[in-house]
Amino acid sequence: MRIVPVSLGRRSYEIKVGGGLLPRLGVECAALKLGRRCAVVTDSNVGKQFAKSAVESLSAAGFQPVLVAVPAGEKSKCLSRVEKCHDQLAKHRLERKSFIVALGGGVVGDLAGFVAATYLRGIPFVQVPTSLLAQVDSSVGGKTGVNLKSGKNLVGAFYQPRLVLCDLDTLKTLPRREYVSGLAEVIKYGVIYDEPLFARLERDLSKLLKRQETTLRDVVARCCEIKAEVVGLDETESGLRAVLNFGHTIGHAIENSSGYGKYLHGEAISIGQVAAAKLSQQVLGLPADEVGRIEKLFIRAGLPVSIKLDAARRKKLFAAMLLDKKVSAGEIKFVLAQKIGQVVWGQKVPTELIQLAVP
Ligand SMILES: NC(=O)c1ccc[n+]([C@@H]2O[C@H](COP(=O)([O-])OP(=O)(O)OC[C@H]3O[C@@H](n4cnc5c(N)ncnc54)[C@H](O)[C@@H]3O)[C@@H](O)[C@H]2O)c1
Ligand SMILES: [Zn+2]
Repeated sequence: MRIVPVSLGRRSYEIKVGGGLLPRLGVECAALKLGRRCAVVTDSNVGKQFAKSAVESLSAAGFQPVLVAVPAGEKSKCLSRVEKCHDQLAKHRLERKSFIVALGGGVVGDLAGFVAATYLRGIPFVQVPTSLLAQVDSSVGGKTGVNLKSGKNLVGAFYQPRLVLCDLDTLKTLPRREYVSGLAEVIKYGVIYDEPLFARLERDLSKLLKRQETTLRDVVARCCEIKAEVVGLDETESGLRAVLNFGHTIGHAIENSSGYGKYLHGEAISIGQVAAAKLSQQVLGLPADEVGRIEKLFIRAGLPVSIKLDAARRKKLFAAMLLDKKVSAGEIKFVLAQKIGQVVWGQKVPTELIQLAVP
Protein backbone atom coordinates (compact mmCIF):
# COMPACT_ATOMS: atom_id res chain seq x y z
CA MET A 1 0.00 0.00 0.00
CA ARG A 2 1.10 3.57 -0.66
CA ILE A 3 0.02 6.45 1.57
CA VAL A 4 -0.20 9.97 0.18
CA PRO A 5 -0.55 12.62 2.88
CA VAL A 6 -2.62 15.66 1.95
CA SER A 7 -1.45 18.60 4.05
CA LEU A 8 -4.19 21.15 4.58
CA GLY A 9 -3.66 22.15 8.20
CA ARG A 10 -6.48 20.96 10.43
CA ARG A 11 -8.21 19.41 7.43
CA SER A 12 -5.26 17.19 6.50
CA TYR A 13 -6.01 13.60 5.56
CA GLU A 14 -4.49 10.55 3.89
CA ILE A 15 -5.05 8.88 0.56
CA LYS A 16 -4.37 5.15 0.77
CA VAL A 17 -3.68 3.32 -2.48
CA GLY A 18 -3.47 -0.46 -2.82
CA GLY A 19 -5.29 -3.74 -3.33
CA GLY A 20 -7.72 -5.19 -0.78
CA LEU A 21 -8.64 -1.90 0.86
CA LEU A 22 -12.44 -2.04 0.60
CA PRO A 23 -12.73 -4.94 3.07
CA ARG A 24 -10.74 -2.74 5.49
CA LEU A 25 -13.18 0.18 5.18
CA GLY A 26 -14.75 -0.44 8.61
CA VAL A 27 -11.40 -0.68 10.41
CA GLU A 28 -10.15 2.46 8.67
CA CYS A 29 -13.30 4.42 9.61
CA ALA A 30 -13.08 3.18 13.20
CA ALA A 31 -9.60 4.71 13.41
CA LEU A 32 -11.10 8.09 12.49
CA LYS A 33 -13.36 8.00 15.56
CA LEU A 34 -16.55 8.79 13.69
CA GLY A 35 -20.13 8.28 14.91
CA ARG A 36 -21.83 4.89 14.56
CA ARG A 37 -24.45 5.76 11.98
CA CYS A 38 -23.32 6.20 8.42
CA ALA A 39 -24.58 6.12 4.85
CA VAL A 40 -22.87 4.42 1.93
CA VAL A 41 -23.76 6.41 -1.18
CA THR A 42 -23.17 4.48 -4.38
CA ASP A 43 -24.60 4.05 -7.88
CA SER A 44 -26.49 1.19 -9.48
CA ASN A 45 -23.40 -0.27 -11.25
CA VAL A 46 -20.90 0.05 -8.44
CA GLY A 47 -23.43 -0.96 -5.79
CA LYS A 48 -24.02 -4.25 -7.55
CA GLN A 49 -20.32 -5.10 -7.32
CA PHE A 50 -19.16 -3.59 -4.06
CA ALA A 51 -21.96 -2.38 -1.75
CA LYS A 52 -22.15 -5.67 0.10
CA SER A 53 -18.46 -5.68 0.91
CA ALA A 54 -18.59 -2.03 2.08
CA VAL A 55 -21.65 -2.55 4.28
CA GLU A 56 -20.32 -5.80 5.77
CA SER A 57 -16.99 -4.25 6.59
CA LEU A 58 -18.63 -1.26 8.28
CA SER A 59 -21.06 -3.45 10.23
CA ALA A 60 -18.26 -5.74 11.39
CA ALA A 61 -16.47 -2.70 12.78
CA GLY A 62 -19.54 -1.74 14.82
CA PHE A 63 -21.08 0.87 12.51
CA GLN A 64 -24.73 1.04 11.47
CA PRO A 65 -24.63 1.70 7.74
CA VAL A 66 -27.57 2.49 5.48
CA LEU A 67 -27.22 2.06 1.74
CA VAL A 68 -28.22 4.94 -0.54
CA ALA A 69 -28.06 3.90 -4.21
CA VAL A 70 -28.54 6.39 -7.03
CA PRO A 71 -28.93 5.63 -10.74
CA ALA A 72 -25.55 5.41 -12.51
CA GLY A 73 -24.65 8.32 -14.73
CA GLU A 74 -24.12 12.07 -14.81
CA LYS A 75 -27.87 12.74 -14.46
CA SER A 76 -27.65 11.82 -10.78
CA LYS A 77 -25.45 14.89 -10.19
CA CYS A 78 -28.41 17.21 -9.67
CA LEU A 79 -30.11 19.11 -6.86
CA SER A 80 -33.22 16.94 -6.76
CA ARG A 81 -30.97 13.93 -6.11
CA VAL A 82 -29.19 15.88 -3.37
CA GLU A 83 -32.53 16.48 -1.69
CA LYS A 84 -33.49 12.81 -1.96
CA CYS A 85 -30.19 11.85 -0.34
CA HIS A 86 -30.67 14.41 2.45
CA ASP A 87 -34.12 12.96 3.12
CA GLN A 88 -32.71 9.46 3.42
CA LEU A 89 -30.02 10.63 5.83
CA ALA A 90 -32.65 12.34 7.98
CA LYS A 91 -34.86 9.25 7.88
CA HIS A 92 -31.96 7.11 9.05
CA ARG A 93 -31.34 9.74 11.77
CA LEU A 94 -27.79 10.58 10.84
CA GLU A 95 -26.44 13.25 13.18
CA ARG A 96 -23.39 15.54 13.33
CA LYS A 97 -20.88 12.79 14.04
CA SER A 98 -22.39 10.40 11.51
CA PHE A 99 -20.59 10.11 8.20
CA ILE A 100 -20.98 9.39 4.54
CA VAL A 101 -18.99 6.95 2.44
CA ALA A 102 -18.86 7.84 -1.26
CA LEU A 103 -18.44 4.51 -3.05
CA GLY A 104 -18.20 5.02 -6.80
CA GLY A 105 -16.81 7.08 -9.63
CA GLY A 106 -16.60 10.85 -9.90
CA VAL A 107 -20.37 11.27 -10.11
CA VAL A 108 -20.92 9.59 -6.74
CA GLY A 109 -17.92 11.38 -5.21
CA ASP A 110 -19.10 14.83 -6.30
CA LEU A 111 -22.72 14.16 -5.30
CA ALA A 112 -22.04 12.42 -1.97
CA GLY A 113 -19.36 14.98 -1.10
CA PHE A 114 -21.82 17.80 -1.65
CA VAL A 115 -24.50 15.98 0.33
CA ALA A 116 -21.97 15.59 3.18
CA ALA A 117 -20.94 19.25 2.91
CA THR A 118 -24.51 20.47 3.24
CA TYR A 119 -26.36 18.00 5.50
CA LEU A 120 -26.46 19.55 9.01
CA ARG A 121 -24.01 22.15 7.63
CA GLY A 122 -21.44 19.45 7.07
CA ILE A 123 -20.79 15.92 8.32
CA PRO A 124 -17.59 13.91 7.73
CA PHE A 125 -17.15 11.90 4.57
CA VAL A 126 -14.84 9.20 3.29
CA GLN A 127 -14.13 8.62 -0.37
CA VAL A 128 -13.81 5.17 -1.87
CA PRO A 129 -13.27 6.03 -5.55
CA THR A 130 -13.83 3.11 -7.91
CA SER A 131 -13.08 4.55 -11.35
CA LEU A 132 -9.56 5.41 -12.48
CA LEU A 133 -10.63 9.01 -13.08
CA ALA A 134 -12.02 9.26 -9.57
CA GLN A 135 -8.89 7.71 -8.03
CA VAL A 136 -6.41 10.03 -9.72
CA ASP A 137 -8.51 13.16 -10.08
CA SER A 138 -11.99 13.80 -8.70
CA SER A 139 -11.45 12.32 -5.21
CA VAL A 140 -8.45 14.59 -4.61
CA GLY A 141 -8.78 18.32 -4.10
CA GLY A 142 -12.01 18.81 -2.22
CA LYS A 143 -14.27 19.97 -5.01
CA THR A 144 -17.79 18.66 -4.61
CA GLY A 145 -20.97 19.65 -6.38
CA VAL A 146 -23.74 19.04 -8.86
CA ASN A 147 -24.93 20.30 -12.24
CA LEU A 148 -27.71 22.71 -13.13
CA LYS A 149 -29.68 22.67 -16.38
CA SER A 150 -27.62 25.68 -17.42
CA GLY A 151 -24.27 24.02 -16.94
CA LYS A 152 -21.99 21.49 -15.29
CA ASN A 153 -20.75 21.83 -11.70
CA LEU A 154 -22.45 25.18 -11.17
CA VAL A 155 -23.44 24.45 -7.56
CA GLY A 156 -20.92 23.11 -5.11
CA ALA A 157 -18.60 23.47 -2.17
CA PHE A 158 -14.96 22.96 -1.35
CA TYR A 159 -15.18 20.18 1.19
CA GLN A 160 -12.37 17.81 2.13
CA PRO A 161 -12.86 14.12 2.91
CA ARG A 162 -11.48 12.59 6.10
CA LEU A 163 -9.88 9.73 4.21
CA VAL A 164 -9.60 8.45 0.64
CA LEU A 165 -9.30 4.70 0.04
CA CYS A 166 -8.26 3.83 -3.52
CA ASP A 167 -8.81 0.09 -3.71
CA LEU A 168 -7.14 -1.03 -6.95
CA ASP A 169 -9.16 -4.27 -6.94
CA THR A 170 -12.30 -2.27 -7.66
CA LEU A 171 -10.82 -1.17 -11.01
CA LYS A 172 -11.03 -4.77 -12.25
CA THR A 173 -14.73 -4.41 -13.07
CA LEU A 174 -14.46 -0.95 -14.64
CA PRO A 175 -15.41 -1.08 -18.36
CA ARG A 176 -12.32 -0.80 -20.58
CA ARG A 177 -13.47 2.40 -22.26
CA GLU A 178 -13.89 4.09 -18.84
CA TYR A 179 -10.50 2.81 -17.72
CA VAL A 180 -8.68 4.05 -20.81
CA SER A 181 -10.46 7.38 -20.49
CA GLY A 182 -9.01 7.70 -16.97
CA LEU A 183 -5.55 7.14 -18.42
CA ALA A 184 -5.86 10.49 -20.22
CA GLU A 185 -5.73 12.24 -16.83
CA VAL A 186 -2.83 10.02 -15.75
CA ILE A 187 -0.81 11.01 -18.82
CA LYS A 188 -1.72 14.64 -18.14
CA TYR A 189 0.10 14.56 -14.79
CA GLY A 190 3.25 13.45 -16.57
CA VAL A 191 3.00 16.25 -19.11
CA ILE A 192 2.24 19.04 -16.66
CA TYR A 193 4.44 18.11 -13.72
CA ASP A 194 6.63 15.06 -13.91
CA GLU A 195 8.84 13.98 -16.82
CA PRO A 196 10.00 10.79 -15.02
CA LEU A 197 6.32 9.79 -14.60
CA PHE A 198 5.75 10.43 -18.31
CA ALA A 199 8.79 8.28 -19.18
CA ARG A 200 7.53 5.54 -16.86
CA LEU A 201 4.15 5.61 -18.60
CA GLU A 202 5.93 5.21 -21.94
CA ARG A 203 7.81 2.23 -20.51
CA ASP A 204 5.02 0.55 -18.54
CA LEU A 205 1.96 1.34 -20.62
CA SER A 206 1.24 -2.29 -21.48
CA LYS A 207 1.34 -3.25 -17.77
CA LEU A 208 -0.96 -0.38 -17.03
CA LEU A 209 -3.38 -1.43 -19.76
CA LYS A 210 -3.42 -4.88 -18.13
CA ARG A 211 -4.23 -3.13 -14.81
CA GLN A 212 -1.21 -4.75 -13.20
CA GLU A 213 -1.41 -4.00 -9.48
CA THR A 214 2.08 -2.83 -8.54
CA THR A 215 2.38 -0.54 -11.55
CA LEU A 216 -1.09 0.86 -10.93
CA ARG A 217 -0.30 1.37 -7.26
CA ASP A 218 2.80 3.45 -7.99
CA VAL A 219 1.20 5.41 -10.80
CA VAL A 220 -2.11 6.15 -9.03
CA ALA A 221 -0.24 7.18 -5.88
CA ARG A 222 2.06 9.50 -7.86
CA CYS A 223 -0.92 11.12 -9.62
CA CYS A 224 -2.64 11.71 -6.26
CA GLU A 225 0.59 13.14 -4.88
CA ILE A 226 0.86 15.59 -7.77
CA LYS A 227 -2.75 16.69 -7.56
CA ALA A 228 -2.52 17.02 -3.76
CA GLU A 229 0.64 19.10 -4.09
CA VAL A 230 -0.86 21.43 -6.68
CA VAL A 231 -4.09 21.78 -4.72
CA GLY A 232 -2.20 22.27 -1.44
CA LEU A 233 -0.38 25.21 -2.97
CA ASP A 234 -3.60 26.68 -4.38
CA GLU A 235 -6.61 25.25 -2.60
CA THR A 236 -9.15 27.78 -3.85
CA GLU A 237 -8.04 28.04 -7.45
CA SER A 238 -6.40 31.42 -7.78
CA GLY A 239 -3.48 30.39 -9.96
CA LEU A 240 -1.30 27.28 -10.01
CA ARG A 241 -4.28 24.91 -9.92
CA ALA A 242 -4.98 26.04 -13.47
CA VAL A 243 -2.18 23.76 -14.70
CA LEU A 244 -4.53 20.84 -14.06
CA ASN A 245 -6.60 22.19 -16.93
CA PHE A 246 -4.00 21.29 -19.55
CA GLY A 247 -5.91 20.06 -22.60
CA HIS A 248 -9.22 20.97 -20.99
CA THR A 249 -10.08 24.20 -22.85
CA ILE A 250 -10.39 22.38 -26.15
CA GLY A 251 -11.51 19.19 -24.38
CA HIS A 252 -14.46 20.86 -22.67
CA ALA A 253 -15.46 22.52 -25.94
CA ILE A 254 -15.43 19.11 -27.65
CA GLU A 255 -17.64 17.67 -24.90
CA ASN A 256 -20.00 20.65 -25.07
CA SER A 257 -20.31 21.00 -28.80
CA SER A 258 -20.68 17.31 -29.59
CA GLY A 259 -23.36 16.83 -26.95
CA TYR A 260 -22.38 15.29 -23.61
CA GLY A 261 -22.01 11.55 -23.86
CA LYS A 262 -20.51 11.19 -27.33
CA TYR A 263 -16.98 11.55 -26.04
CA LEU A 264 -16.02 10.47 -22.56
CA HIS A 265 -14.17 13.20 -20.67
CA GLY A 266 -10.81 11.43 -21.02
CA GLU A 267 -11.30 11.01 -24.76
CA ALA A 268 -12.10 14.70 -25.22
CA ILE A 269 -9.10 15.86 -23.19
CA SER A 270 -6.85 13.43 -25.04
CA ILE A 271 -7.70 15.31 -28.25
CA GLY A 272 -7.39 18.57 -26.27
CA GLN A 273 -3.96 17.73 -24.88
CA VAL A 274 -2.53 16.81 -28.27
CA ALA A 275 -3.90 20.07 -29.70
CA ALA A 276 -2.43 21.97 -26.71
CA ALA A 277 0.93 20.29 -27.31
CA LYS A 278 0.86 21.51 -30.93
CA LEU A 279 -0.03 25.01 -29.77
CA SER A 280 2.82 24.80 -27.28
CA GLN A 281 5.19 24.08 -30.14
CA GLN A 282 4.00 27.21 -31.96
CA VAL A 283 3.83 29.54 -28.99
CA LEU A 284 6.51 28.33 -26.57
CA GLY A 285 8.79 26.25 -28.78
CA LEU A 286 7.96 22.86 -27.25
CA PRO A 287 10.36 20.63 -29.26
CA ALA A 288 8.75 18.64 -32.10
CA ASP A 289 10.01 15.32 -30.73
CA GLU A 290 8.24 15.99 -27.42
CA VAL A 291 5.00 16.82 -29.24
CA GLY A 292 5.49 13.47 -31.00
CA ARG A 293 6.06 11.60 -27.72
CA ILE A 294 2.88 13.08 -26.25
CA GLU A 295 0.77 12.20 -29.28
CA LYS A 296 2.22 8.70 -29.50
CA LEU A 297 1.50 7.88 -25.84
CA PHE A 298 -2.18 8.82 -26.20
CA ILE A 299 -2.43 6.76 -29.38
CA ARG A 300 -0.77 3.74 -27.75
CA ALA A 301 -3.21 4.03 -24.83
CA GLY A 302 -6.06 3.69 -27.33
CA LEU A 303 -7.28 7.27 -27.02
CA PRO A 304 -8.40 9.54 -29.87
CA VAL A 305 -6.00 12.37 -30.77
CA SER A 306 -7.92 14.22 -33.46
CA ILE A 307 -11.45 15.07 -34.38
CA LYS A 308 -13.00 15.38 -37.83
CA LEU A 309 -15.28 18.39 -38.05
CA ASP A 310 -17.39 19.80 -40.84
CA ALA A 311 -17.66 23.61 -41.06
CA ALA A 312 -20.84 23.79 -38.94
CA ARG A 313 -19.48 21.64 -36.11
CA ARG A 314 -16.19 23.49 -36.21
CA LYS A 315 -18.08 26.73 -35.69
CA LYS A 316 -19.95 25.20 -32.80
CA LEU A 317 -16.71 24.02 -31.22
CA PHE A 318 -15.14 27.49 -31.35
CA ALA A 319 -18.32 29.10 -30.04
CA ALA A 320 -18.18 26.66 -27.10
CA MET A 321 -14.53 27.56 -26.48
CA LEU A 322 -15.31 31.29 -26.40
CA LEU A 323 -17.98 30.64 -23.76
CA ASP A 324 -15.39 29.05 -21.50
CA LYS A 325 -14.60 30.97 -18.33
CA LYS A 326 -10.93 31.30 -19.25
CA VAL A 327 -11.64 33.76 -22.08
CA SER A 328 -10.88 37.46 -21.83
CA ALA A 329 -11.36 40.02 -24.61
CA GLY A 330 -11.73 37.39 -27.32
CA GLU A 331 -8.43 35.75 -26.47
CA ILE A 332 -8.58 32.27 -25.08
CA LYS A 333 -6.16 31.48 -22.27
CA PHE A 334 -4.36 28.18 -22.41
CA VAL A 335 -2.11 26.04 -20.28
CA LEU A 336 0.87 25.32 -22.52
CA ALA A 337 3.95 23.13 -22.15
CA GLN A 338 7.52 24.40 -22.30
CA LYS A 339 8.75 20.84 -22.10
CA ILE A 340 7.31 17.55 -20.90
CA GLY A 341 6.93 17.98 -17.14
CA GLN A 342 6.71 21.76 -17.17
CA VAL A 343 3.78 23.98 -18.13
CA VAL A 344 2.74 27.61 -17.79
CA TRP A 345 -0.83 28.86 -17.44
CA GLY A 346 -2.67 31.97 -18.61
CA GLN A 347 -1.12 31.90 -22.08
CA LYS A 348 -3.14 34.00 -24.50
CA VAL A 349 -3.43 32.37 -27.88
CA PRO A 350 -4.96 34.03 -30.95
CA THR A 351 -7.89 32.09 -32.45
CA GLU A 352 -6.11 31.66 -35.82
CA LEU A 353 -3.45 29.54 -34.17
CA ILE A 354 -6.06 27.43 -32.40
CA GLN A 355 -7.79 26.85 -35.74
CA LEU A 356 -4.53 25.34 -37.01
CA ALA A 357 -4.02 23.15 -33.94
CA VAL A 358 -7.48 21.57 -34.12
CA PRO A 359 -7.17 19.48 -37.26
N1 LIG B 1 -14.43 16.99 -8.08
C1 LIG B 1 -13.49 17.10 -8.99
O1 LIG B 1 -12.44 17.70 -8.77
C2 LIG B 1 -13.70 16.42 -10.32
C3 LIG B 1 -12.63 16.28 -11.20
C4 LIG B 1 -12.83 15.60 -12.39
C5 LIG B 1 -14.09 15.10 -12.69
N2 LIG B 1 -15.12 15.28 -11.83
C6 LIG B 1 -16.45 14.74 -12.11
O2 LIG B 1 -16.37 13.32 -12.15
C7 LIG B 1 -17.42 12.82 -12.96
C8 LIG B 1 -16.87 11.76 -13.86
O3 LIG B 1 -16.34 10.72 -13.09
P1 LIG B 1 -16.24 9.23 -13.66
O4 LIG B 1 -15.54 9.26 -14.95
O5 LIG B 1 -15.72 8.37 -12.58
O6 LIG B 1 -17.76 8.91 -14.01
P2 LIG B 1 -18.87 8.01 -13.29
O7 LIG B 1 -18.89 8.19 -11.85
O8 LIG B 1 -20.13 8.23 -14.04
O9 LIG B 1 -18.34 6.53 -13.60
C9 LIG B 1 -18.27 6.10 -14.93
C10 LIG B 1 -19.07 4.81 -15.14
O10 LIG B 1 -18.34 3.72 -14.58
C11 LIG B 1 -19.14 3.04 -13.62
N3 LIG B 1 -18.20 2.55 -12.61
C12 LIG B 1 -17.47 3.28 -11.75
N4 LIG B 1 -16.65 2.49 -11.07
C13 LIG B 1 -16.87 1.21 -11.49
C14 LIG B 1 -16.30 -0.04 -11.17
N5 LIG B 1 -15.30 -0.16 -10.31
N6 LIG B 1 -16.79 -1.13 -11.79
C15 LIG B 1 -17.78 -1.02 -12.73
N7 LIG B 1 -18.33 0.14 -13.10
C16 LIG B 1 -17.88 1.26 -12.47
C17 LIG B 1 -20.16 4.04 -13.16
O11 LIG B 1 -21.30 3.41 -12.66
C18 LIG B 1 -20.42 4.82 -14.44
O12 LIG B 1 -21.33 4.11 -15.23
C19 LIG B 1 -18.02 14.02 -13.70
O13 LIG B 1 -19.25 14.35 -13.13
C20 LIG B 1 -17.00 15.13 -13.44
O14 LIG B 1 -17.60 16.40 -13.41
C21 LIG B 1 -14.94 15.93 -10.65
ZN1 LIG C 1 -10.26 16.36 -16.50
